[in-house]
Amino acid sequence: MQVGIDKIGFYAPSQYLDLTELAQARGEDPNKYLIGIGQSEQVVIPVTQDVVTMAASAASQVITDDNREKIAMVIFGTESGIDHSKSAAMYLKRLLHLPDQIRAIEVKQACYGATFGVQTAKDYVKANPEKQVLVIGADIARYGLNTPGEVTQGGGAVAMTIAAAPQILALDDATSFRSEDIMDFWRPLYRTEALVDGRYSENIYVDFFQAVFHDYCKTTGRTIADFAALTYHLPFTKMGLKGLRSVLPEASDTQQTRLKANFEASRVYNRRVGNLYTGSLYLSLMSLLANAALATGDRIGLFSYGSGAEGEFYSGTLVQSTPALAAKQQFDAYFKKRTKLSVAEYESCFKRQLPNHDVLLDTKADDARFVLTGIKHDQRQYVDRSHTE
Ligand code: COA
Repeated sequence: MQVGIDKIGFYAPSQYLDLTELAQARGEDPNKYLIGIGQSEQVVIPVTQDVVTMAASAASQVITDDNREKIAMVIFGTESGIDHSKSAAMYLKRLLHLPDQIRAIEVKQACYGATFGVQTAKDYVKANPEKQVLVIGADIARYGLNTPGEVTQGGGAVAMTIAAAPQILALDDATSFRSEDIMDFWRPLYRTEALVDGRYSENIYVDFFQAVFHDYCKTTGRTIADFAALTYHLPFTKMGLKGLRSVLPEASDTQQTRLKANFEASRVYNRRVGNLYTGSLYLSLMSLLANAALATGDRIGLFSYGSGAEGEFYSGTLVQSTPALAAKQQFDAYFKKRTKLSVAEYESCFKRQLPNHDVLLDTKADDARFVLTGIKHDQRQYVDRSHTE
């Protein structure tokens, strides 16, 4: 029985920063950002959006009357949650009108959370093929104004349903993972911005990729020649390129050309959205599906990395290539409707954080279906505008 990604949806706010303008404001050569980092634009998150609202907007694209009652579990991967105790999945369950006979939990291991969700969901659906699992990767990536990490910020959400007889990607059984207690990136509870040892994290990322990729190959007997594409966690797109380059010499010239072309397809959207933390790998998968010439049965490799650190390499085969067209149209429409902010507007938006007291927010400028309207009695207030307008 095949189990895998049945549906996939994406949401990010519709305001962004042009990174050429950010480079100019920071006194950097724009090519450092565009080529050296591999990012050209970055989503800017308004105060009226958080991981719950973004996840709800992404998940509303994959939850329909056809599958709502089949969802047995929500696994919400995030490292920018809104509560130290209550799971973001619980708010999501209410906003999406999911059944009460459901497990709804939040998981955290930096950018790895959604992959834990996918693998756990795969095992669950194999044992319960009539059920489905909703997996979320939603985050806001914040490093701070005028920091080296500033150019690698962003945010957004990816939602996936994992089901038997999937429509998009049938997951292979084999998977290789590795964990090690490493201080390359962390965010203490009292901070809203992450701390990172940037160069160290890049080196660990590549080390982990090589370790789990080669372990996967050893276990399965597959080689790099078995992959039509390798996709990566992309905190910034140059990071994935470094991972790919580290194994390219194992491929023939023809395979190298194909893997490089498909890597370019897999970073088209990430370049323009920025870092989604745990959703980044899955945005890259969407970018690949929408922009590469792939055929049914093609095997795709997925490398997930969460600083701290957990790495996993797994794979799947493409079930059909038709969802790609719908995905491309959706992304084209999204990028077309976005509004560019000046650097000054971005800085002011970045500084505007939710206070730790009751507040009523002005949501007029936010065009999302799900918005955060404020805090009342220390509880975040969410609205689904499709029910109120
Ligand atoms: N044209 C083209 N490339 C240029 C350039 C120019 N004018 N100027 C610099 N570059 C290149 C550098 O050579 C370097 O390339 P390399 O990484 O291939 O060596 C790259 O741009 C970055 O330059 P660097 O001086 O290292 O940038 P930095 O000190 O500002 O920091 C990061 C870059 C990535 C370390 C920093 O943004 C960061 O810490 N980001 C967060 C890291 C992260 O997400 N870690 C988690 C991993 S999962």
